Amino acid sequence: MRIVVIGKEGQLARSLVERGGAEIVTLGRPEIDLEKPETIGPAIAASAPDVVVNAAAYTAVDLAESEPERARAINAVGASAVAEAAAKAGAPIVHISTDYVFDGSAARPYLESDPVAPLGAYGASKLEGERLVTAANGNSAILRTAWVYSPFGKNFVRTMLRLASTRDKISVVADQRGSPTSALSLADFVLAVARNLVASPEDASLRGVFHAVGAGEATWAEFAEAIFARSAEIGGPSAIVEPIPTSAYPTPAARPANSRLSTELIHRVHGVTPTDWRVALVQSVDRLVASDFPGTQSS
Ligand SMILES: NC(=O)c1ccc[n+]([C@@H]2O[C@H](COP(=O)([O-])OP(=O)(O)OC[C@H]3O[C@@H](n4cnc5c(N)ncnc54)[C@H](OP(=O)(O)O)[C@@H]3O)[C@@H](O)[C@H]2O)c1
Repeated sequence: MRIVVIGKEGQLARSLVERGGAEIVTLGRPEIDLEKPETIGPAIAASAPDVVVNAAAYTAVDLAESEPERARAINAVGASAVAEAAAKAGAPIVHISTDYVFDGSAARPYLESDPVAPLGAYGASKLEGERLVTAANGNSAILRTAWVYSPFGKNFVRTMLRLASTRDKISVVADQRGSPTSALSLADFVLAVARNLVASPEDASLRGVFHAVGAGEATWAEFAEAIFARSAEIGGPSAIVEPIPTSAYPTPAARPANSRLSTELIHRVHGVTPTDWRVALVQSVDRLVASDFPGTQSS
């Protein structure tokens, strides 16, 4: 099976390459630029995909508030062109979306069928992307994920470790709840769904929107505490976490207070069991400590 991944250097793209298990071809800028729709069709056609995974996105949540058109061009219009090109090549598409399509007011983990109401421009662009991708490719699965971190690129785990290397105490938001998700675990979800779509193109139950996050839940402050606990165990940087309310850490884009997503559907339909976020976290912390703070680990 040849999986063509749009995005090269992002957390998910790199995790898919690392997980492997299929022929993985990555396409990114400059050969494919989602802001330049004319680059998309020819590159995807030439790559002869069995399945396309769109791991590319405009992910700068706060910046999107000041450049919503750019977020829309990449996350909605560009994603739609990827889905259309996959359809032309006769390939299903796995597209990635976000918990930010919800406003976070629910008192339980969100189901796929719950009403959407994005709080900001990023969430709105991703929601439009879900709708355009679904319309452009009859064989599509949209995986909504959340709180993604990995040994690669910019993410919360790396930021916490970096801050802890110069500070004793770090203030972290304690009134938003979600499910931290390793991009490597997300890659496992994506690969399973991709295989199922290719193997059973007649099975309509495999298509549609699914939630794909780590098992369990935390606040950002609890997430930070778990990062520092593991880092301290292996001699990496750690700090005291000072829990603060969201109101004490204003950002251009509002975040949902409840980002929890139920994974019951993807487990039942696609047969993937989410990994406990605390278990998955260890590998990323260990790799980030080793790569970013060489020499700090105890032997
Ligand atoms: N990170 C999170 O916490 C989170 C949460 C919920 C949902 N998601 C979703 O999960 C998916 C994967 O996110 P991630 O964390 O892996 O993202 P990421 O690390 O920020 O990577 C984004 C990728 O998109 C590529 N890209 C951006 N603009 C592009 C353009 N105009 N044309 C082509 N490629 C472009 C980037 O390419 P370059 O390498 O060239 O810059 C990069 O490879 C995205 O759909 C995101 O919306 C992420």
